[in-house]
Amino acid sequence: MSRIKVLVIFGTRPEAIKMAPVVKALEKESDFFETRTLVTGQHREMLDQVLDIFGLHPDYDLDIMLRAQSISDITRRVMDGTEEILKSFSPDILLVHGDTTTSFAAALTGFYHRIPIGHVEAGLRSYNRYSPFPEEMNRTLTGQLANLHFAPTKGNEKNLINENIDRETIFVTGNTVIDALLSVVDSKFDFQEPALREMDFSLERVILLTAHRRENFGPPMEKIFRAVRRIAEEYEDVRVVYPMHLNPGVRAIARGILGSSPRVHLIEPLEYLGFAHLMKQSFMILTDSGGIQEEAPALGKPVLVLREETERPEAVAAGTVKVVGTEEENVYAAVRNLLENPSEVLGMTRAINPYGEGRSAQRIVSILKEHFKDLKKRGIEGGEK
Ligand code: UD1
Ligand code: UDP
Repeated sequence: MSRIKVLVIFGTRPEAIKMAPVVKALEKESDFFETRTLVTGQHREMLDQVLDIFGLHPDYDLDIMLRAQSISDITRRVMDGTEEILKSFSPDILLVHGDTTTSFAAALTGFYHRIPIGHVEAGLRSYNRYSPFPEEMNRTLTGQLANLHFAPTKGNEKNLINENIDRETIFVTGNTVIDALLSVVDSKFDFQEPALREMDFSLERVILLTAHRRENFGPPMEKIFRAVRRIAEEYEDVRVVYPMHLNPGVRAIARGILGSSPRVHLIEPLEYLGFAHLMKQSFMILTDSGGIQEEAPALGKPVLVLREETERPEAVAAGTVKVVGTEEENVYAAVRNLLENPSEVLGMTRAINPYGEGRSAQRIVSILKEHFKDLKKRGIEGGEK
């Protein structure tokens, strides 16, 4: 039996973190799958940090990143590059992840070539097409293009069924981010960054901040940062650590408002190991990130989400995540509430795991194996081509 050819495609930091366990699990089944990895390079430094940590060596690198390019530029360049690889490798299935423009553009290219698509982290919805932007539309369209849907939760599965996706093609797998997190978080680790090395996590309350969403650019991000500045000015035992996303739009606003603020540390993006350890040692997390809303509950860390809504309602329902929006007074009041009220913090620190127990990648690979075994038995080579 010839091996099933799988092409795993990703391009940004969070996709790499969440696809690394899938690539590793596929590589363990090398008798069955011939796995190749294509990175688009939508991110560069932030992607390479993850490749290093997980020891991934992509077979193809489109290297498309340009400073501050438009979403249309990303789409075009991912499609052009992916098409070449599809022609030469001719995979039996493409695996894409989540909601980035890399994922959507690669899935569309795969569809044009009639190559089946597996969508990892399928079915998340905010039902607001402009928030998160462009992610909500990217993942909805990728869902329509995909043949197999790996949904992290039952709620995600329900969203897909509501969109008339055939339920036989949806599999609830948990989220591979938990696989990734558990593989790094218990290792021994010393921070390299001087600011973090000097920090006394037992005496100082560390607030970990991340912000990068496009829909927050401009006034929403300014309001968030002003609220953070007030907190840092008022609480002497608080330190804010913000590993700034490399998007130049984000960094300009952050430096302008927080650059000279006492007790605020604007640092470079942390590699995953360091970031996981910083989450673990923080008092609370303020974020507009998707992935961090999934990781922090597993670590029992209170999270305030700097967005108007979330497509990840599971941890909100469990009480460890609160959506606080982007209004300065609301963000300020929510952070203050946690700093002033230990009982509020306690209520949010119960470690919960709505996203699985860290075996999602293995589950996805078993499902793929089953899927292709059946097709082989019926003598249909290469899925639906
Ligand atoms: C992208 C994804 C978003 C995801 C986020 C995770 C899209 C449209 N956006 O957003 O869904 O949540 O990544 O972080 O798919 N840059 C660097 N080095 C890097 C990364 C970025 O210099 O390693 C700079 C470049 O100037 C780049 C810019 O940041 O042009 C923006 O990157 P881009 O991928 O377009 O969008 P993000 O806002 O990072
Ligand atoms: N992360 C990291 N270093 C950082 C900030 C975040 O490794 O300095 C990790 C984080 O643990 C999570 C992922 O990057 O797994 C989230 O990426 P991001 O917030 O950029 O994207 P999103 O999840 O919002 O798409």
